[in-house]
Amino acid sequence: MAAIRILPDLLINQIAAGEVIERPAAALKELLENSLDAGAREVSVQLASGGTKLLKVSDDGLGVGKDELPLAVARHATSKIATLEDLERIASLGFRGEALASIAAVSHLTLTSRQRDEKHAWSIGVTGGELAEPAPAAHDAGTSVEVHDLYFNTPARRKFLKSEATEYAHCDETFKRIVLARPDVAFRLQHNGRAQWHLPAHSPAARIAAVLGEDFGAAAIPVDVQSGTTRLSGLIGSPASARGTRDAQYFMVNGRFVRDKVLAHALRQAYQDVLHHDRHPAFVLALELDPARVDVNVHPAKSEVRFRDSQAVHQFVFHAVSRALAGTAGGAADTIPEPGPRPSTAGFSATQYRMPLGVAQSNAVYETLFGRTGAALAMSAPNPANQPSAETSAELPPLGFALAQLSGIYILAQNEHGLVIVDMHAAHERIVYEKLKTQLDADRIAMQPLLIPVVFNAERIDVATTEDHSETLGKLGFEIAALSPTSLAVRGVPVALKDADAGQLARDVLAEIREFGASRVLIERQNELLSTMACHAAVRANRLLTITEMNALLREMEATERAGQCNHGRPTWHQISIAELDKLFMRGR
Ligand SMILES: Nc1ncnc2c1ncn2[C@@H]1O[C@H](COP(=O)(O)OP(=O)(O)OP(=O)(O)O)[C@@H](O)[C@H]1O
Ligand SMILES: [Mg+2]
Repeated sequence: MAAIRILPDLLINQIAAGEVIERPAAALKELLENSLDAGAREVSVQLASGGTKLLKVSDDGLGVGKDELPLAVARHATSKIATLEDLERIASLGFRGEALASIAAVSHLTLTSRQRDEKHAWSIGVTGGELAEPAPAAHDAGTSVEVHDLYFNTPARRKFLKSEATEYAHCDETFKRIVLARPDVAFRLQHNGRAQWHLPAHSPAARIAAVLGEDFGAAAIPVDVQSGTTRLSGLIGSPASARGTRDAQYFMVNGRFVRDKVLAHALRQAYQDVLHHDRHPAFVLALELDPARVDVNVHPAKSEVRFRDSQAVHQFVFHAVSRALAGTAGGAADTIPEPGPRPSTAGFSATQYRMPLGVAQSNAVYETLFGRTGAALAMSAPNPANQPSAETSAELPPLGFALAQLSGIYILAQNEHGLVIVDMHAAHERIVYEKLKTQLDADRIAMQPLLIPVVFNAERIDVATTEDHSETLGKLGFEIAALSPTSLAVRGVPVALKDADAGQLARDVLAEIREFGASRVLIERQNELLSTMACHAAVRANRLLTITEMNALLREMEATERAGQCNHGRPTWHQISIAELDKLFMRGR
């Protein structure tokens, strides 16, 4: 073995560059972060050949003085922290003092900077780690860092570079992460002389729409929750617009894009209720908290963090996102386009168009409909009393009023924007699910005693389960008694499920309890169980509904949390605006 020796500085920096500057996009990230740390209001980026030939970032930030230029590109030299206490409460993006030194070790780097009170700028060149003397230069107040021929002196690293298009794609993604984190700063980006991004300073929502597309911006649900010094804000995708991949997920912690298991888990859990597990929601969320509560010094590229109290952070994020997702159909007007010019109501009288159905009235109708089946039949003749009347409120409900039923599956309704199509099965399932959930959260699910108990032959294990867990069953709204070692009688079922097949329902619930244990069923698997139960209750397809019944369902949807999706994340309703219809028929061109 060779003798042990201290490595030359250049080699040390090249080794560091291997970790820190993995590819052009990583260099771009470091340069952009330096500009933001310097308080820039405007940042512009020029790239050539995916960042391998040229990477230039210019800002209007505080700048570096002539005497400090050599320090800026020296390893372990930083203006951002000085003590261990500083390291433990980092508010800047950089703190190690190694980014510029690492980049300079594997490229031709020029740092040009002018502080506000200087007459002119100074520039320093570094080639493969060799420093030149600072020379006067022309530059506005601020800093430009120009990086030519990345990895020119590290052929092994150069070999790992992918095609220009791929390297550019990584730069583009890095750029997006940064600009999403800082909507208050203006950014531009050019690649091979062509403008790719031009982003003026924005509000957070406008920046998100500019980067992820107006469609996402328009359909997303806003989040803004603050508790003490901790704040979560941003936009989250509606479950219906969830994608099959995980790409459009941006989480920033104190202005830094991070990948974090705790946060990812909190998000997944919040969506779990409304989203099928193979779908991934898009979101842009910014978490701000006391820098002392998060350790950013845990990853070479600074893209991971460690929360000092991850449990609390998890809780906070989970609740904030759950609450946002729980917006009722009224609040879920996010999927309804902004009211544009008032839609034409030709063919509908104004009074009919403005038909309101009082909530009390609609609830009564709803109870009749999905409660006592006999009464529902009595209502199937059109009832003029339920037709629109002008004297009630002039407010048009978000989901409008029913026009007809299609194929025994869909309800067609008209609201302020145009046509609303409701999947009645999915909608009803969601309503029942939320009812069960609310009741269980408040202690127990209301039970409806059955006049005639439903008796069925059961497996012995089901009979045993019934006896072991009568208390749990009671909480879930069931009264089930053992008649013999192999038969059970269902004496009561949840009120919301009184029209379901009691025997089948009871079997399903018993199977769940048997498989997972009573305590897990009530805690961890509560939502799955309730969702199974709700499936039993849903209006069967092909059941003909009257207009009154349909309106009752629409009102119930509006009053229900998360009514925009069924329990499996499928949308329960869809809006087709008059403008879209006009387009279909080439009207108004
Ligand atoms: N665009 C800039 N404007 C003003 N000063 C800058 C700029 N870029 C770098 N500097 C100065 O140069 C120093 C070194 O930058 P460098 O990126 O190497 O380290 P850092 O940002 O302190 O830490 P890190 O290695 O974590 O990025 C910074 O601390 C800062 O003082
Ligand atoms: Mg830095």
